[in-house]
Amino acid sequence: MNRNHARNLILMATLLPALILAGCNGATGRPLLPVAEYEKMIVGRVDADYVGTGNCVAQCHRHDKISDDFRHSVHGEQIKPETGLPLVNCESCHGPGSLAIANLEAAKQQHGDKAKCDTSTLLDLKSLPAQAQSLICLRCHSSTSTSSLSHWPTSVHAMHDVSCFSCHRLHEGPQQKVSHDQMAELCYQCHPDVKTQFNLFSHHPVREKKMNCFDCHDPHGSPNNALLKGATVRDTCTRCHMDKSGPFIFEHGDVTENCSNCHSPHGSVTRRLLTVTMPYLCLQCHGSAHQSRLMSADSRERAIFARRCTVCHSMIHGSDTPDSQGHGTLRR
Ligand code: HEC
Ligand code: HEC
Ligand code: HEC
Ligand code: HEC
Ligand code: HEC
Ligand code: HEC
Ligand code: HEC
Ligand code: HEC
Ligand code: HEC
Repeated sequence: MNRNHARNLILMATLLPALILAGCNGATGRPLLPVAEYEKMIVGRVDADYVGTGNCVAQCHRHDKISDDFRHSVHGEQIKPETGLPLVNCESCHGPGSLAIANLEAAKQQHGDKAKCDTSTLLDLKSLPAQAQSLICLRCHSSTSTSSLSHWPTSVHAMHDVSCFSCHRLHEGPQQKVSHDQMAELCYQCHPDVKTQFNLFSHHPVREKKMNCFDCHDPHGSPNNALLKGATVRDTCTRCHMDKSGPFIFEHGDVTENCSNCHSPHGSVTRRLLTVTMPYLCLQCHGSAHQSRLMSADSRERAIFARRCTVCHSMIHGSDTPDSQGHGTLRR
């Protein structure tokens, strides 16, 4: 982490409240409070003081694993105390801790090792409204410091009470990011129907861990439909399948403008992610006269082909080569 970056974080910590949530609505039907109300919720007890991570950890054994992981996380390690920049420490998220440990010594004399900190004096992170939970993170993670968050305030996730904590599990190891290995499982917890789609016979290789939700979607928000990375479905697909992007001399009408005319993005019971099996896929838009002609042909082989239109029309996505009559019948 360089110092400029750190300065951005501080700068934005002061500017941020005015900016975020400004454009939010109540998509869930529950009224949103003014930002100031959420800010109050994350101040913590005003009669408590900050005591530092050393104190939080030294006083409470059960924090050993958490603090050890934390020390090795980007949050724990990136800012050196000498710089005088704000540390990211336990109290940055949990609120000031002096009251939590105020009576600990006395309690230890009474109950020995069973004595506990009074965590009820800390912020009750889990019970805060989602907007306040996210605000804890957004104080530092402005869209300037974390550009992927620029569409967060208007994202479908923010508007449906999904908070940063819902996806980022900060104490399940040193990793603060969502690990690529576990991303799909994380998303499936709230999108079980999508899991079903990826389990179908034909599917993008998410299960095989060759790609991820993140390859097509921006979970933090995007200006596009369905949090897509591309402006349209087609733009999203052709990021990887560039050979299908054209332009071709012989386009397939304008059908390839939307790949979803023929493909399901996640998975399908039909090979090649097709929404419907051939020939029915094609017959949705093309009359069956040509097919009937093929079916009645004396060659048995041709009749079988007639069910697999792309055996002949192999350049189904578009072609630069006319057929022998000079027409663009997408055959080569
Ligand atoms: C960047 C923010 C952040 C920082 C820094 C942080 N925590 Fe947390 N902590 C959280 C969140 C969010 C939760 C609630 C997670 C959840 O939903 O279970 C949590 C939960 C906890 C819990 C309760 C765990 C449980 O299973 O109920 C403990 C204990 C805890 N933190 C201790 C610490 C200690 C000790 C430190 C410093 C070494 C620390 N935290 C630093 C965000 C933070
Ligand atoms: C006190 C400031 C502060 C708070 C509060 C804070 N962060 Fe951070 N966070 C940082 C800094 C600084 C970095 C490292 C620089 C960077 O990547 O922007 C960082 C990095 C991260 C990273 C990137 C990790 C990586 O491997 O690149 C994630 C993910 C993250 N924070 C999530 C969160 C979440 C979720 C919360 C709220 C629970 C939160 N942060 C709260 C300051 C903070
Ligand atoms: C729906 C799940 C989800 C939510 C909600 C979410 N994140 Fe993320 N976040 C991710 C995923 C997935 C990544 C991508 C990991 C990667 O870069 O490989 C990520 C990456 C990050 C990163 C590091 C990479 C980057 O883009 O700079 C930071 C920092 C971060 N998130 C912070 C936040 C904060 C702060 C919030 C709340 C305002 C939040 N996230 C809400 C899923 C989520
Ligand atoms: C190959 C690109 C791609 C991948 C990988 C992908 N998606 Fe999608 N997803 C799409 C497209 C395209 C749409 C449809 C958008 C439309 O038609 O408006 C979509 C729609 C969705 C929707 C909304 C509609 C619905 O079907 O419920 C959700 C939720 C969703 N995806 C979640 C996920 C999750 C979770 C993952 C990872 C397990 C994932 N997606 C992986 C491309 C992808
Ligand atoms: C805590 C629950 C939760 C998690 C975790 C979660 N989502 Fe969502 N997601 C929602 C809700 C709620 C909505 C909005 C209602 C809906 O469309 O189901 C939504 C909507 C979406 C949409 C549809 C957007 C639209 O405009 O139709 C996509 C795409 C999506 N999520 C992708 C993801 C991806 C990718 C992940 C994992 C990185 C993820 N979600 C993790 C709860 C979640
Ligand atoms: C991040 C890159 C990426 C994006 C974006 C992407 N794909 Fe793919 N696609 C792949 C990979 C990888 C495969 C698997 C290739 C393999 O197994 O040989 C694949 C395979 C396919 C297949 C063949 C499936 C099969 O059963 O052989 C189709 C059809 C397909 N993608 C369509 C799409 C469509 C439609 C979109 C947009 C919604 C899309 N792809 C977006 C990477 C991508
Ligand atoms: C008119 C229907 C149709 C449209 C629209 C369409 N496809 Fe296809 N696509 C097919 C058919 C049919 C196949 C299977 C060909 C075969 O295997 O015989 C296929 C196969 C594929 C394959 C796997 C085999 C290969 O050729 O690499 C990919 C990848 C693919 N399509 C991507 C796309 C993308 C990206 C778009 C949007 C730009 C798109 N398709 C639009 C019908 C369509
Ligand atoms: C969503 C509707 C739609 C689907 C599905 C569709 N097509 Fe088309 N197709 C069109 C349109 C529109 C044209 C251009 C106008 C025309 O000539 O009929 C076209 C043109 C063609 C042409 C070129 C005709 C010419 O003389 O230029 C061929 C060959 C063709 N389609 C074959 C297929 C095959 C094979 C399939 C199935 C894999 C298929 N189409 C699926 C709509 C569709
Ligand atoms: C055995 C090879 C073969 C198969 C299989 C085949 N076609 Fe054709 N198709 C052709 C040839 C050759 C032409 C151009 C000359 C003609 O019209 O016979 C053509 C022309 C077309 C045309 C444009 C002109 C017209 O007659 O409508 C469309 C659309 C078309 N085919 C769709 C399909 C569909 C849909 C299927 C699957 C049901 C299919 N084709 C299967 C060889 C084939």
